[in-house]
Amino acid sequence: MRAKLDELVTAALQRGAAVPAFTCYDFATATAVVEAAEETGLPVILNVAPKTAASRAGQRLIAALRGLADGAVVPVCVQLDHASDLAVIRESVRSGADCVLADGSSLGFEENIALVREVRAALDADGGLYDHGAAAIVLEAELGGLAGDEDKAFGVDAGEAAGLTDPAQVRDFVERSGAQLLAVAIGNVHGKYKGAPQIRWDVLGRISAETDVPLVLHGASGIPADELLKARTLGVGKVNFNTELRTGILATLEAETAAHRADGENLQGLLGRWNVSAKEFAAATLRTLGE
Ligand code: 13P
Repeated sequence: MRAKLDELVTAALQRGAAVPAFTCYDFATATAVVEAAEETGLPVILNVAPKTAASRAGQRLIAALRGLADGAVVPVCVQLDHASDLAVIRESVRSGADCVLADGSSLGFEENIALVREVRAALDADGGLYDHGAAAIVLEAELGGLAGDEDKAFGVDAGEAAGLTDPAQVRDFVERSGAQLLAVAIGNVHGKYKGAPQIRWDVLGRISAETDVPLVLHGASGIPADELLKARTLGVGKVNFNTELRTGILATLEAETAAHRADGENLQGLLGRWNVSAKEFAAATLRTLGE
């Protein structure tokens, strides 16, 4: 069923929970994630990467995820992740995304605020094109920069974690940008961590004292569960996973492809194993964060 991301995450935080977001490059993975959410009875977020959304096929995927989300028996959001291209953002929302990370984190402070405001203005202007109106579209923003690659898991040294969020900028940034959720850089990286993650709890504590909007932790793959739960107590209500889901799916495909090839090129059977792998990871993560 359809849900508003900020309300979903705020409600989760109020009951001491957080909501995971999983990057889905394809419909098979998204189906598994939604089935895991339905089996656990917990809400979930389907993330679409910007490179995916930039293609015609990616827009069709977003439309398909919209149908998947609407037909689910639990709340499901469809988010365009890490987007800065206005044309892709507008098209993705028209295709069915109900929330966007308007990502100006590589820009200067003022330019970052301007990007988020520009996205909001563009969506407001397009409002008549959306079934639920522009006000139903939720904007996340990011302050501070994350090292690593969004789509490929190269190892990143925890010490390389780029551009921590400056807590002193948070209140002003949220107020002036209108961000409804805030992604933070607190030592988290995209991809695999070289060595143990070094989360800056002092920085997160100071950020959470500055704002009431829910915080978002990207780069959650590789961060131990107890640290994710600790982050939850400091206002992190949305937690983004990509790498760990991919690792599990690829390992399953590697292990199972030969047997399914020998079994009459049984693609249906192989897709079933893919579904089980993605569903197991999503369900375990949903339970850890949501219960
Ligand atoms: P990981 O690939 O490190 O899990 O990061 C995912 C993410 O932050 C998606 O926005």
